[in-house]
Amino acid sequence: MSSLRVSAPLLDAYLSYFESNRTPFTIPGHKQRASRLDHDLGSVVDSDTPLYGGLDEIKLTNQTLKKAEALAATLWGADYARFSTGGSTHANQAIVLALGKPGDKVALSRTAHRSILSALVLAGLEPIWLAPEIDEATGVPIGINVKEFEKIIDQKPIALLLTEPGYLGTISDLSPIVKSAHSHSIPVIVDAAWGGHFGFSDSTPQHCLQIGADALITSVHKTLPGYSASALLLAQGELLNLDRIEQSFETTHTTSPAGAPLASIDGCRALLQLRGDELITQLISNVNIFKAKVQSHFDAPIFLNTSDFAPGRFDPAKIVLRANQLGASGVDIEKALQSAFIRVEMADRDTVVFLATLADSKEEFDALADALVPILTSLQSTPRPTATSLSWSVVPTVGISMREAYFAETEMVPAKDCVGRISADLIAPYPPGVAVIAPGEILTSTILDGLAATKAAGVRIAYATDSSLLRYRTVKN
Ligand SMILES: Cc1ncc(COP(=O)(O)O)c(C=O)c1O
Repeated sequence: MSSLRVSAPLLDAYLSYFESNRTPFTIPGHKQRASRLDHDLGSVVDSDTPLYGGLDEIKLTNQTLKKAEALAATLWGADYARFSTGGSTHANQAIVLALGKPGDKVALSRTAHRSILSALVLAGLEPIWLAPEIDEATGVPIGINVKEFEKIIDQKPIALLLTEPGYLGTISDLSPIVKSAHSHSIPVIVDAAWGGHFGFSDSTPQHCLQIGADALITSVHKTLPGYSASALLLAQGELLNLDRIEQSFETTHTTSPAGAPLASIDGCRALLQLRGDELITQLISNVNIFKAKVQSHFDAPIFLNTSDFAPGRFDPAKIVLRANQLGASGVDIEKALQSAFIRVEMADRDTVVFLATLADSKEEFDALADALVPILTSLQSTPRPTATSLSWSVVPTVGISMREAYFAETEMVPAKDCVGRISADLIAPYPPGVAVIAPGEILTSTILDGLAATKAAGVRIAYATDSSLLRYRTVKN
């Protein structure tokens, strides 16, 4: 048995299930025998087993999940840990539902993911928006300044919700913000969906619990090698009510969690515990070599680099290509890479984001560099000045509360008549899934023109009722 399996009870339970004799008269209905009915269906479902009756007995007699979650809590230094099969989306909802009561206010970064905004609607909490600082040289948001938070403390937020690292890898100066929030007994909850690899090596920033935050949510399937939609919720009990979090978690989670995502979270935890430092150091070294190799063909700096930001304020594993520096379209770069069977995480006019993880080898980075250099060389033209994308630069104007707008009577209005109308939709270029307009906010010409231009540049605009953007769903006058 591998040392990883020995130290990962849920992973071991998953593997043991398939190694044992079994005649299930339980869900799931495929019984791991669907290939008898159809080979292709079987290829998809026959490796599936759930928590109940799979990784544990139907009555959870062995407490396998609890044991694995306790190991995760210990590794991250948390009082409480839960494994979710519903992504950071679910974990964000669970924690936001546990914070207060309808009408309470929370302070949050405008770069929050849409899952946080929908959680506010569910919980009836009202946002106090915090604008991210924008780095002049690169045009990217570099997080929330403590002064931005302190400006709104007199509005009495019951919690501060941050997104760290941001989608482009930058990180707020967390320590002063956490100190300031705690001096007012305000808990700091960090959506660290993209920061699961932080805190295990000197070559990355610390994770937010190490800096004193009260909760950390991360997607184990993003920067860690976990199963799709696996996520981890970690919390401290001093300022947060852990019983309420537990209740909210169960209220919003499926009652039939799949075993593979759960086992993968446990396996990732064990991997970080046993080999985190070695693997993360190797990853950062591979990323640095890759960037230097590609950069050597061009004069202007074409990647975001750790040296562009204050120490500890950028994720060194993040690969963000600045297409504007080459005068190329990020969307054209994406298309050319697709022809070489390479998919990227995100591309808009000025930016391409590549996700690099512990699962990438030096050979994959070399192959990416070999494919990318000729594409960039052929697409480069006159560099464009640094611009800040719509997702990071919107200043919202609130018309009515988000929850009120969500449940209001609505009507579809042609785009040309929408200036001044209240949006009923949350609309976000995806990725990064950051709202350009949220329910209850007023549609302005900057927003309408910006969304149309972003769509025309080849970016997917998500969640608009009319995805052509010819009409918008607005609150009825
Ligand atoms: C900052 C942030 N939070 C939460 C999520 C949701 O994560 P998941 O896809 O695991 O539900 C995302 C997804 O991209 C994200 O970028």
